[in-house]
Amino acid sequence: MNYRVSILFILALEQGMSIEQLMWVEKYRPKRLDDVVNQKEIVEGIKRIIASPAGMPNMLFAGPAGVGKTTVALCIAREVLGEYWRDYTLELNASDERGINMVREKVKMFTRYTSIGSIPFKIVILDEADEMTPEAQTALRRIMEDSASTSRFILICNYISQIIGPIQSRCVIFRFKSLARDDVVNHLANICKLEGVRYEDKALEMIYEFTSGDLRHAINILQAAASHGTVNDASVRSALGISYKARVGEVIRLALEGNFNDARLKMLELTKVHGLSERDFIKFASEEIMKGAIKDAGANTKGAELLRILAEYDYRLVVGAHPDIQLAALLAELARIGKASSGGRAGK
Ligand SMILES: Nc1ncnc2c1ncn2[C@@H]1O[C@H](COP(=O)(O)OP(=O)(O)OP(=O)(O)O)[C@@H](O)[C@H]1O
Ligand SMILES: [Mg+2]
Repeated sequence: MNYRVSILFILALEQGMSIEQLMWVEKYRPKRLDDVVNQKEIVEGIKRIIASPAGMPNMLFAGPAGVGKTTVALCIAREVLGEYWRDYTLELNASDERGINMVREKVKMFTRYTSIGSIPFKIVILDEADEMTPEAQTALRRIMEDSASTSRFILICNYISQIIGPIQSRCVIFRFKSLARDDVVNHLANICKLEGVRYEDKALEMIYEFTSGDLRHAINILQAAASHGTVNDASVRSALGISYKARVGEVIRLALEGNFNDARLKMLELTKVHGLSERDFIKFASEEIMKGAIKDAGANTKGAELLRILAEYDYRLVVGAHPDIQLAALLAELARIGKASSGGRAGK
């Protein structure tokens, strides 16, 4: 997303528009299984299962980013639980929550304090389950068993190999695939039509090439390109040029040049306006440093040291330190290192 979009974003948010109305990824997130793009076998299998909801098993969704895992989980909750599905659905992120004890407490409270009434069970959606340690997963397995009479779990992960055997064997496993070129291009074209935005087929194909089957990423780039008026070669190139990774690289470069304030503001824009998670920020930063993209700021010689520092802050986030404070501290440390390596001169 580009600068122009982000200013519009802030203005619109101030006028009380919701993220759902503003972000096309949310606006066009399917609400019913029938509207999910591709993933045909999975959707068919799930429809058969939820035709008699009482027999719904725990499920494990695996697959790459942005292909519909969370979307399908939410569709199931809507279709099985009906109008008040939100009241009976608990969405947790295993890597955000402060460890398995928090998961246990939240699940316990959730299953204890809301009455079940006319619904068959409550649904717990646990994202990023593969980020949990094997010990935490063993505890999770216990929690799943203890709440078997009241709840069903949908666990979501990228890598199924990171999920312990005892959990795998207690779930029906669905493997999501990257979306194909036609799926992505047609979906993007539909969104353009609904938004009344002019587009060129070639430009949509270029977005597919860049995002290789990650529909979330593709829609975000489409929205950024559309902010230039038309989705064509030039607007897509411009949108791609300012994709998250490049912008995170820019933040790191500013910090290394000693420009802490600008770096911090841009970092906040990425995390607060664009919703980039703090851990993704660190991940992208390390990818950019490894690519040597930040070499002109002295990262070549300092590369190893920078990666060590990023790993340390990544760890602090995992163990639950405050993300805003940690990222600001990270940038301050980079600014200090940048100054030291340029012989005490801040910036260039
Ligand atoms: N199969 C799909 N059909 C329709 N829209 C999709 C599909 N996959 C992704 N999207 C779009 O991308 C957005 C993100 O999808 P979703 O949250 O389901 O991805 P995910 O597979 O859970 O990815 P992650 O592993 O990064 O959490 C959705 O809001 C929707 O707009
Ligand atoms: Mg998801």
